[in-house]
Amino acid sequence: MKTNMNRRNFLMTAGATAGFAIASGYSPFSYAQNEKVRVGCIGTGGQGTFHIRDGLTGTPDIEIVAVCDVFLPHQREAIKLAQLANAGITITPEKRLTDEEKQMASAATRPNAYYDYKEMLEKEELDAVVIATPLATHFPITMDCLNAGKWVFCEKTLVKTIEEGRDLITRCHELGRWVQVGHQRRYNPKYNMAMGLAYDDNMIGRITHITAQWHRNHYWRRVLPKDYVLNDEEKKFITDLEHHLNWRIYADSSEGLFTELATHQTDISNWFLKKVPSRVHAFGGLDYWRDGRTTDDNILLAFEYEESSNDPGFMPIDQRSQFQKLRELSKPYTVRSVYSSILANAKRGASELIQGDRGTFELTEGKCLMFGEDVVTQKDEGQSAEEMAAATTAGSTRQVSTEELLNGKELLADVALLTPDVYQFRAFANCIKNGGVPRSNQMVGFTTAITAIAAIKSRREGGVVEIDPSWYSFDFEVPSFYDFGKWEEEIS
Ligand SMILES: NC(=O)c1ccc[n+]([C@@H]2O[C@H](COP(=O)([O-])OP(=O)(O)OC[C@H]3O[C@@H](n4cnc5c(N)ncnc54)[C@H](O)[C@@H]3O)[C@@H](O)[C@H]2O)c1
Repeated sequence: MKTNMNRRNFLMTAGATAGFAIASGYSPFSYAQNEKVRVGCIGTGGQGTFHIRDGLTGTPDIEIVAVCDVFLPHQREAIKLAQLANAGITITPEKRLTDEEKQMASAATRPNAYYDYKEMLEKEELDAVVIATPLATHFPITMDCLNAGKWVFCEKTLVKTIEEGRDLITRCHELGRWVQVGHQRRYNPKYNMAMGLAYDDNMIGRITHITAQWHRNHYWRRVLPKDYVLNDEEKKFITDLEHHLNWRIYADSSEGLFTELATHQTDISNWFLKKVPSRVHAFGGLDYWRDGRTTDDNILLAFEYEESSNDPGFMPIDQRSQFQKLRELSKPYTVRSVYSSILANAKRGASELIQGDRGTFELTEGKCLMFGEDVVTQKDEGQSAEEMAAATTAGSTRQVSTEELLNGKELLADVALLTPDVYQFRAFANCIKNGGVPRSNQMVGFTTAITAIAAIKSRREGGVVEIDPSWYSFDFEVPSFYDFGKWEEEIS
């Protein structure tokens, strides 16, 4: 947005008193219809440049006016891609720009580049920032940006300790601000459709189990650029380039699979169960890629989620046998969720299986399937011995009967969709311009981070770790961590 010098101060002041107003959908600053949200991108490595190329290019309401990275090659790449994004030009490795596109790109805003995000915050008039830096930096950078009056998008995993999470949530409350977190499945129309089918249409019944995994057969290590010599600016931030580029496999800068892969999917368990788990037992080890890394290369996590009748994720069940007492049907129950992530076998890839007593969702970012179950009900009463024998042998133990149930129905198979990254950044711009609270807000980021924090504690100390609800309870109103949207509205 083109504004005067006082605008940044105005946003800070407005934000400081706007807690209730924002929660009820009021925007403290009104944007003209065609005004763009001015964004600075902090951290423009793999995911940061993906956002520029994909989500931000697909969001016409956003203009990238600055980029920041402590590593010059990533900074340079970001400048080029951001200028194309500002011109609305999508680029792929194979694509050659036409002359017209080259002209459009050179006429578009070329972002200023920085090594130090604090200098960027000081010098640029930004409305918002997109943070895609390593885990250990999420909390300090997010807090500095919030304190500078910016709307924040920060990549997952949002925080690495309970204390950080609580401070961040409290600061959002004090400032009347939110932080959107990069759990992009929350904006995937297919996942939202599945949530609607589960909760509005009761299509899969009570969710009784969740199984998820992210399996790869990959070293997960980056190669150093040949003969690269750090310049004086880079040296202020980077002491060891190998460690800097491979931050995700070292325990002092990342928690490896726990925070880089598992939270994508424990987030889905929390969302579909509308709950934070009560406890976790985690196992893990470094058993294959013994190449100097200090994070595990295989992890196995078991969570328990407890549902009571006043919980939003509680689902009653029908009586399916005369031996089930009616008063037992609405009693609290526990859902168990099992997760594995491995780096030495890719079978089954990345997916989540949401299993209910009437059906199942098999979810991946590209393809979501729904399967039905044969709901077998025991009709013993009044049956003769012959009838009971016939029922037992003629399929009462059968689980799946028709082709459709067996092969699954693909959700939104015939609808052309954009990528989830575009949906999440359109939602980000929309919340800033029109005053909503993002679905993937700071409470989503924090409650999901808790699954990793507790699992890491279990892995280190051994045994089951109890997740204390006081970790994520506050004496002020916080945004919901389990809302979903109507898929029709998502794609409109
Ligand atoms: N949502 C997703 O699907 C998804 C996918 C991949 C990565 N991520 C997340 O994105 C984040 C970045 O991951 P990545 O794969 O892009 O890592 P990366 O190493 O490719 O990029 C990180 C960038 O941040 C820069 N950087 C580090 N410290 C900085 C600082 N203080 N100021 C400015 N720049 C700094 C680095 O130089 C690097 O260019 C991580 O939190 C990761 O978990 C999310």
